[in-house]
Amino acid sequence: MAHRAAIVGAGHTRFGVLDDGPRALIRSTVELAFASVDRGAERKDVSEAFLATLGFGGSQIGNSAAVLAEEAGVVGIPVTRVENACASGGFAIRSAVGALAARASPLVLVVGVEKMTDVSNARRRYWLGVSGDTEWERLAGLTFAGVYGLIASRYFTEHGDASEALAEVAVKNHENGALNPNAHFQRKITRADVRSAPLVADPLGLFDCCPVSDGAVALLLSPPEIARRFTDTPVYVDGLGAGTDPLAVQERAKLTSFRATQRAAHEAFRSAGWHRSDVSFLEVHDCFTIAELLALEDLGFAGPGEAAALTLSGETRRGGRLPVNPDGGLKSKGHPIGATGVSQAYEIFLQLRGEAGSRQVSHAGHALAQNVGGAGATAAVTLFSVG
Ligand code: COA
Repeated sequence: MAHRAAIVGAGHTRFGVLDDGPRALIRSTVELAFASVDRGAERKDVSEAFLATLGFGGSQIGNSAAVLAEEAGVVGIPVTRVENACASGGFAIRSAVGALAARASPLVLVVGVEKMTDVSNARRRYWLGVSGDTEWERLAGLTFAGVYGLIASRYFTEHGDASEALAEVAVKNHENGALNPNAHFQRKITRADVRSAPLVADPLGLFDCCPVSDGAVALLLSPPEIARRFTDTPVYVDGLGAGTDPLAVQERAKLTSFRATQRAAHEAFRSAGWHRSDVSFLEVHDCFTIAELLALEDLGFAGPGEAAALTLSGETRRGGRLPVNPDGGLKSKGHPIGATGVSQAYEIFLQLRGEAGSRQVSHAGHALAQNVGGAGATAAVTLFSVG
């Protein structure tokens, strides 16, 4: 199977509660991406760009593509904003690969950014809610933590109490995040910490939830055949898949699996010609701990109800057979909405090049990223390789 695109440079700001606004975040991450290109790249080589953002807080609701053009120093080229809630980043990468295939271009830039922590609590709740179903779920007061709490309860009903596995997801991801200098939280926690934390939406407590974070990530993609003009170790995009499901969970046949992820995974593996056994590690969308169990099952790495045992076996730890979220995941690294899918690709870029330092996973040759929008209504799955 031919490679579809190559990542030749990548930049990542710290995630967390930051002083910078969206413009400064974009500027810094793009600077870092250009500086990371081994043989150098210039702004004039970039012929198109994609911006992944929800526009949290509403400070620049319309036409934010022009902000990216200004801050990235590429005014004049076409820029398209991609908004699919928390899956914006994964869909922006997909669009960038499509743009490379459609038009001969040396470089396409992808930036994901979100500024979330400079709004009041009331506005934060409003902006977290805009990506859920507005007519029924949101009017009834349901939050994303509430939806995922319902999903976890239903999972327990179908497969038995999985609270120990959920706690293990949180402990594992905090342990990985403690080794990531860009993570929002860089401290380990214990299962006892998880158990004694305040309840957010039964059965999910504080450590079952991702935080609200600021941050930005940038990628430079080139056609695979010219990637070595920029670096000896490009990371290739080999497979792309994406899917959708009804927005409201009440419209779906099942609460405990996401058909959008299943469809995206099927398409990604088919387009790459890969088997599940080819994958060395995963970056999955653990916005709430239960989502990591669902991801393992929907992506085909565990049967229905089997992800809890897989997680408790230790196989998804950094040193296990199938490491999951070596960067700390959304849980510990943080979740600046539009930046998250791009950040997953950034971690894969480092890991596949052997540049992830103390959190490096061994034998990393093939990786998968799963990026989910809201409570599973949109999903993108991308497959990457090196060498
Ligand atoms: N995990 C661990 N610690 C967290 C945390 C999280 N998810 N969220 C906040 N904290 C910590 C803060 O660092 C702070 O610690 P400190 O007192 O030592 O400084 C403390 O808890 C209170 O922080 P605060 O921001 O006031 O928490 P909160 O109660 O307002 O918010 C949540 C907590 C879980 C409700 C909030 O993080 C949240 O809504 N998360 C989900 C975001 C979401 O839905 N994203 C979209 C996904 S689909």
